[in-house]
Amino acid sequence: MAAHPASDMKREVEGLYREARQALESCRTQAEIESVRVTFLGRKGRLTALVRSLGSVAPEERPEIGRIVNQAKEELERLLAELLERARQRETAARLASEKVDVTLPGSCTIPGRSHPVTQVTEEALEVFASLGFSVAEGPEIEDDYHNFEALNIPKDHPARDMQDTFFVSEELVLRTHTSPVQIRVMEARKPPLAIVAPGPVYRHDDDVTHSPMFHQIEGFLVDREVTFAQLKGTLSLFLRRMFGPKTAVRFRPSFFPFTEPSAEVDIGCVLCESAGRPAGAEGCRVCRGSGWLEVLGAGMINPAVFRFVGYDPRKFRGFAFGLGIERLAMLRYGISDIRLFFENDLRFLRQF
Ligand code: FA5
Repeated sequence: MAAHPASDMKREVEGLYREARQALESCRTQAEIESVRVTFLGRKGRLTALVRSLGSVAPEERPEIGRIVNQAKEELERLLAELLERARQRETAARLASEKVDVTLPGSCTIPGRSHPVTQVTEEALEVFASLGFSVAEGPEIEDDYHNFEALNIPKDHPARDMQDTFFVSEELVLRTHTSPVQIRVMEARKPPLAIVAPGPVYRHDDDVTHSPMFHQIEGFLVDREVTFAQLKGTLSLFLRRMFGPKTAVRFRPSFFPFTEPSAEVDIGCVLCESAGRPAGAEGCRVCRGSGWLEVLGAGMINPAVFRFVGYDPRKFRGFAFGLGIERLAMLRYGISDIRLFFENDLRFLRQF
């Protein structure tokens, strides 16, 4: 291999060094500097190639040329590091300036979520029952015909099935039309004494200002050896007075449910006009349709036929049961005239609770 003249090599190094310096000095960004580094000092860079060709310089001149090349390399590296640091600082400063936070701007506030009024009333009602010693149970929303009707003493051809317009899932399965099937499920699984409340959604083919196709009930029942209608009256009167105030008038009217005997419907004095129990001639209002009373729940003594379905001896055990509509309670409590407001998810409505 022909020896590379040292003088050529020296000139080349100096040329490259100048070129690299110039290129570096015109760089503004870290990326540009990096690209110059790759061009001259990278693995395939021009100065690197020159170092590799040192072998072609005459041996006696190699140390001198080597020193020059190394010096050029070191100086470029030092300059590169210095420029890189400056570019980095410049870029950081620019980014901080563009991202500057104006601390005088009003803050964006997060509106805290809250429980739905139906949830609030449910929780409040369950608390009252818990304070009386009731515990909570739940059952499936898709229920079989047996638990929703049959075991509640509503046989297939019984006219009472007309009382509830049912959504059928199949021949044998329905969307439960009330929470009463939870009575059956709990009694099948457990022995008395029992004091249970069972909240949850129920479904009926109903839709107007006071009836919704999906609404919520709380079922309550108590089974033991000595249970009386007086205890039922006491429990429900206490519950309603805790929910609507200590002076609330409560009355029981005879009614019919296949799963209770005797049965009653329970009314409270109209929360709007408060004319219940006043002498004849008191007016009533639109909400209570002039009667002074509002129906809030159904109740009664558990029918012995139901006990037979779950394998309890009706000669040994008695029980009371009741079922209330939560939306109905919430409507009376808050003076809401249209049940559909609960399910439209209008925040202007929901934020009031
Ligand atoms: C029943 O559902 C019985 N299972 C209650 C019961 C339980 C009686 C245990 C005896 C013993 P009823 O169909 O009346 O009964 O419904 C109970 C309550 O649910 C009503 O008082 C009413 O407040 C509410 N309700 C009924 N239908 C609707 C509806 N479509 N939308 C909103 N609330 C309703």
